[in-house]
Amino acid sequence: MTVCYFTASGNCLYAARRIGGTLLSIPQMMRQKKIEIEDDAVGIVCPVYAVELPFMIVDFMKKAEIKTDYFFFILTCGYEFEVSLGHAEVAARERGWDLKYGTGTRRG
Ligand SMILES: Cc1cc2nc3c(=O)[nH]c(=O)nc-3n(C[C@H](O)[C@H](O)[C@H](O)COP(=O)(O)O)c2cc1C
Repeated sequence: MTVCYFTASGNCLYAARRIGGTLLSIPQMMRQKKIEIEDDAVGIVCPVYAVELPFMIVDFMKKAEIKTDYFFFILTCGYEFEVSLGHAEVAARERGWDLKYGTGTRRG
């Protein structure tokens, strides 16, 4: 399993570590010319920003070549993740990635 994560204040890094597998930093990968990930399960863990996905996640989902039978998406947020999860599902479908599991987690 590979978990691609984006974190600013650490919540998504915490979540990614709890999920386990191979952890890959999205900001670091975005410096690469090509991003190619193949694994039995590949997921993205990122925060909700302004009821949206962070811009870097949108760009990552356009740039990355991901091959997996099980694509998943986990959002951390302050109060609401459902709308952003909908955006993630649409962005994944545009790449032909079938979102098998998606959820979010709130603080407190
Ligand atoms: C610029 C910014 C915008 C945010 N917008 C939202 C939002 O619209 N909805 C929400 O529920 N949480 C929002 N949050 C809270 C973050 O999603 C939440 O704290 C998240 O867990 C941060 O993840 P991180 O610690 O991995 O960076 C926002 C946080 C920041 C910094």
